[in-house]
Amino acid sequence: MDILLWHKLLGPYELAVQELVLKFRHMKKEYQDRGMYCPIESVEGRVKTVSSILDKMKRKNIPMDQLEELVEDIAGVRIICQFVEDIEKVSRMIEERSDIEVQYEKDYVKNMKESGYRSYQLIIFYTVHTLEGQKNLQMEIQIRTMDMDFWATVEHSLQYKYKERIPEHIKRRLSNAANAIIALDNEMSSVRSEIMDVQNSFQLHARIVSDILNNIQNLYGTANEREVLKIQDEFYRIYELNDIDQLKRFSKELDSIAEGYRVQSLSSEEM
Ligand code: GTP
Ligand code: MG
Repeated sequence: MDILLWHKLLGPYELAVQELVLKFRHMKKEYQDRGMYCPIESVEGRVKTVSSILDKMKRKNIPMDQLEELVEDIAGVRIICQFVEDIEKVSRMIEERSDIEVQYEKDYVKNMKESGYRSYQLIIFYTVHTLEGQKNLQMEIQIRTMDMDFWATVEHSLQYKYKERIPEHIKRRLSNAANAIIALDNEMSSVRSEIMDVQNSFQLHARIVSDILNNIQNLYGTANEREVLKIQDEFYRIYELNDIDQLKRFSKELDSIAEGYRVQSLSSEEM
């Protein structure tokens, strides 16, 4: 296979990664727009480099004609969560989607690998459309917490440094760290509900303020200037009170005023 063919082979995988990353990031935005806690913290994706595909084929004795079948992670998407509980939630959301077909799942969260590696992994099929027509691609989705990700990143660098023969004393350290991460994730889980509340109301607060300011700005071009100034002063007064219910009420009132002028901001219409 020459460079040109690799390029052709990997093109659809690049599209698939971009599409899925976009879709998961949009999911996060939808949660935020509703002022809800989001089980997804961040999303990244990558297409394996040619050299890393070749390495894996060599390591696993995979022939060229079975490359796409047997290298399951040519395209990979990684979803990072704050809490262990979120991992299950995200995997269920993925299972329910009609654009993603889950082939099988590997639960290294419950069944930690010997190395100490933990992650929830789904091998999926995802269809992209290109000029060549549509193509059903095998991909890997990894779901893990922020600290599982931290561990995997560090361990991966060490594997690279030691060419996968990590010295015993470092392996032991990594194993200790993996256990510490289990303990940390458990501790964090115990405060999850409280954190979720804070994050909800924090995002909701930011959203309402942004709606109000949008409405005020739109009214500024249409309504009587003195009236708009009065509304703005009232907003500052209510903002100072630090009371989300008052802010909500004010935002609703402002919505109906804006509606009267047909300048209601778009985002508040979705509420
Ligand atoms: P490879 O590990 O790539 O050979 O894949 P596999 O077919 O053996 O599947 P496995 O479920 O073991 O791993 C899938 C992916 O999970 C890998 O490509 C890595 O990204 C990640 N992974 C698996 N094991 C480890 C590990 O011990 N350390 C780190 N850092 N990542 C791992
Ligand atoms: Mg492996």
